[in-house]
Amino acid sequence: MSDRLLDWYDRHARVLPWRVSPEARQAGVRPDPYRVWLSEIMLQQTTVAAVKSYFLRFTERWPTVSDLAAAADEDVMAEWAGLGYYARARNLLKCARVVATEHGGAFPDTREALLTLPGIGPYTAAAVASIAFDRPETVLDGNVERVMARMYAVEDPLPGSKPQLHELAGQSTPAERPGDYAQAVMDLGATICTPRNPACGICPWMGGCRARDLGIASDLPRKTRK
Ligand code: ADE
Repeated sequence: MSDRLLDWYDRHARVLPWRVSPEARQAGVRPDPYRVWLSEIMLQQTTVAAVKSYFLRFTERWPTVSDLAAAADEDVMAEWAGLGYYARARNLLKCARVVATEHGGAFPDTREALLTLPGIGPYTAAAVASIAFDRPETVLDGNVERVMARMYAVEDPLPGSKPQLHELAGQSTPAERPGDYAQAVMDLGATICTPRNPACGICPWMGGCRARDLGIASDLPRKTRK
């Protein structure tokens, strides 16, 4: 199943400013960990469409983590204005300074080491280890939860089903190209396996999706009423 998804990703990956182009990817170019980290922090609670321009301005002004570490606090806060959640911006700077001063300007390359940095929680540590360093970590965001719930027809509601979805996402992660795979599942959730009216007819995983077989894809994941 992962091969089919990776083939689809090679043809249909969204072009995003923190990603490597398909041609460069085939030539073995890896994404810059600084750009992966910055994008993941910005994408928490903010949409891809809204993040793009902020990401481009930040990386233009501060091309490396050491540049960002050397920035004045108020300049970073001013560029952040509009993204909201200012604690994230403060942690962003804190993290950049720790990477610059204690890690020689290079992000650590394992989930465990990334977890020790300010502002990096379990999701971000797994995402950066996977996307930037091609580690087979389990990357579970809202998109991935939805895809897993449908693929395996998990009818238990969120948030209670989270551990089960995490387990399923981990079992589905391939040893080959885990970083591309993580981004491919995110893209599948964002473009085909959408919350409403999923485009099952053009889904690369159509053949193996239990929810689709049962005719309940649009109903999953269920959510506990608040
Ligand atoms: N949402 C969170 N991380 C993302 C990524 N790397 N690509 C696309 N959407 C995302």
